[in-house]
Amino acid sequence: MCTRMKVALASDHAALGLKAELAEWLLTLGHEVEDLGPNGPESVDYPDYGYKLASHVAAGKAERGIALCGTGIGISIAVNRNPKVRCGLVSEPLSAKLTREHNDANIIAMGARMIGSEMAKACVEAFLNTPFGGDRHVRRVDKLSNPQQD
Ligand code: RB5
Repeated sequence: MCTRMKVALASDHAALGLKAELAEWLLTLGHEVEDLGPNGPESVDYPDYGYKLASHVAAGKAERGIALCGTGIGISIAVNRNPKVRCGLVSEPLSAKLTREHNDANIIAMGARMIGSEMAKACVEAFLNTPFGGDRHVRRVDKLSNPQQD
């Protein structure tokens, strides 16, 4: 069991059910959970919720974020546009673990139409329980904050 964390979630309409299930499950594990929406089934645009989650995590209002859409792809692109976000798109727990160890990911993205909720929970567990590996990865992660290379 990992330490209690502030975890924020956001999605689009395609991942509303998975978002609700993960939020409820995270609460049972003792985490502080913030659901940034959407709150109803109407069709929405994943960039709007991705940007909201990215700003939230970048501002330190949550330690970790979970970004969900149909494939996970659109919302992962959206959150990664914030230079303070490092988001790995994952569909199994080894990638979720390695994006923490190697990339110091502060958000993971998953596709609700691509994976089931048990696999998503296994990914979240790995994401929350794995520390950053440090060492050689520090230099590489630092470079992610400076994408302009002359
Ligand atoms: C919504 O239909 C769908 O396009 C979206 O959830 C996502 O898969 C985009 O990347």
